[in-house]
Formats: sequence, structure tokens, C-alpha cells
Amino acid sequence: MTKKKQVQTEKYTKYKSLTELSKIDQQLFDVAFAKMEQAYAPYSKFHVGSAILLKNGIIIGGSNQENASYGLSMCAERTALFNAGSNFPTTEVETLVVVTKNFNENTKPHKKSKGILAPCGACRQVILEYENRFNNDIKILLMDSDGRIYEFDSVKQILPFAFGGYFLK
Ligand code: THU
Repeated sequence: MTKKKQVQTEKYTKYKSLTELSKIDQQLFDVAFAKMEQAYAPYSKFHVGSAILLKNGIIIGGSNQENASYGLSMCAERTALFNAGSNFPTTEVETLVVVTKNFNENTKPHKKSKGILAPCGACRQVILEYENRFNNDIKILLMDSDGRIYEFDSVKQILPFAFGGYFLK
């Protein structure tokens, strides 16, 4: 008889609101929300902001950048990560925050985005690359439409059976 195995994923700590977070994590949310306001998302009208904290204390923000050729659009998380990776190629990423608010004129914030905003599959894979690149887990802070926070110790918590560079060695 085959035995069903369960993969342990989605281990997280939940906070009721931003005020329960450390000062630096709150600051990351401030940056992510500010970047979200500047997102370039004229097609989806889904504005996303991100912020990452580097080990040297520097905070880098990002927002989604869309294109008339839709498939060329880039998510807020990858915008920030690629910025960090190219400008600080030897510095570990400690924390990543991502936030949204729906900017559709006919809907109130979050009406279309109930639940937790979590990085898309492509972004999870890119976050994993940065964990492996520096051999350093990245804390991920997500927010839901009621303002609660979900803290993951590593992208591995939300990316089971991941593909990594070790297959290519
Ligand atoms: N998007 C992000 O920037 N990050 C996410 O985590 C989810 C999706 C962007 C991509 C696109 O510009 C818009 O949101 C709608 O998919």
C-alpha cells in the first residue's frame, strides 16, 4: 500500500496588525506602501509595492512595472530584488515585504484582492535564488485585506518541491 506523505509548508507567525511588528519591519511596510502608490500598472490597475531590507541596513523598494505587451510586465518583488542584486551584489537580503491595494476606480481598496497578497510563483522562484545565492533565508512579510501580517522564515515555506541551482552542478 502506498503511504501518503505530507510536505510541511506554510509555517508562519501571524500578527494582528502592523503595530505588533518591530520598528524596522514597520518601516519596510511604509516603504512598500509608498512604492505601491508609484506603481506603473495602467493595464491591470493592480498596484503592488515591495520593500527589501539588506544585511547592511539599506532598504530597497520596488513596484510593478507593466507593459503594453502584457507578458513583459514585471512584479514589484522582482523589481526590488533585481535592483538589490545588481547594486549590492555581495549583500544578503534579510526581509521582503509586499503589499497591494486595488486601484480600480469602481472598487474600494482590496475589494478585488480579498485574502493574503502572496508573491506569484515566478517571484517565489526568484526569491529562492537569492536565498541560495547568499546561503541565507529571507524573512517574508505578507499582509491580508484586513491588515493582518503573516511572517514566513523562508520562501521555502511557500515553495515546496522547489527547483534550485544545485541540480545544475
Ligand atoms: N503583481 C506583483 O507585482 N506582485 C505580485 O505578488 C502579484 C502580481 C503584479 C503583476 C501585474 O503587474 C499585476 O500585479 C497584476 O497581475
